[in-house]
Amino acid sequence: MEELKVPNHVAIIMDGNGRWAQNRGKKRTFGHQKGADTLKKISEYVYDKNIKVLSVFAFSTENWKRDKEEVDFLMNLFLKAFNKNFESVKKKGVKVIFSGLKTKLSDKVLDAMDKMSEETKDNKNGIFNICINYGGQDEIAEAAKKICTDVVDGKIKTSDINTSMFNKYLFNDLPPIDLLIRTSGEYRISNFMLYQMAYAEMYFTDVLWPDFDENEMDKAIESFNKRDRRYGGVKKK
Ligand code: FPP
Repeated sequence: MEELKVPNHVAIIMDGNGRWAQNRGKKRTFGHQKGADTLKKISEYVYDKNIKVLSVFAFSTENWKRDKEEVDFLMNLFLKAFNKNFESVKKKGVKVIFSGLKTKLSDKVLDAMDKMSEETKDNKNGIFNICINYGGQDEIAEAAKKICTDVVDGKIKTSDINTSMFNKYLFNDLPPIDLLIRTSGEYRISNFMLYQMAYAEMYFTDVLWPDFDENEMDKAIESFNKRDRRYGGVKKK
């Protein structure tokens, strides 16, 4: 049997928590609770599959527009996850990093993020990139600002700017995304990791995030295996 190719960097837009709960006559927050359980399960599974980098969209810069009750619930869920639920990921030797703007987040959440990053910074078995208060256009604009500052300060020359050095100015210097998964039947990128997504294969499924499981992850990897990745070139016969 031919061996499965495993994507190096998988990114997930975990969509459909609210609908999952509403379909059951429950509050949207119940769906987020279930969504957090799914993330715990999937974050344990991917590294066993030898996927090296997992990026997840946990909270966008637009999500602040939601009701205060929902935003507060999500922030508490993050706190619980960073202080306790992601112990299993730490035990696997995975490095946890965060992408996003530091503005608007409470000191409590920022401290839990710092603690998690500090405790896992030397881990080498994989990278878990959690995007909170994140927007892809913001990430690119912030990188452009830092590059301009370095040019003005004489640290680099304009002629030094290229795509791989630009990558180093992003929130984190991550490898390109190989596979993007979006759940819940929506076919959008929603301002997620625009720079890293340049040649990503896209996998959309109708499954709502709380119902996504190891079997669904396997289906996404199988689909990735059928793709013919040419990066703009022509495949040699
Ligand atoms: C999108 O579904 C989901 C979110 C905005 C939140 C994602 C958060 C989690 C999965 C919780 C766990 C995360 C961590 C890092 C512990 P939606 O609410 O937009 O669903 P809908 O489209 O059905 O309304």
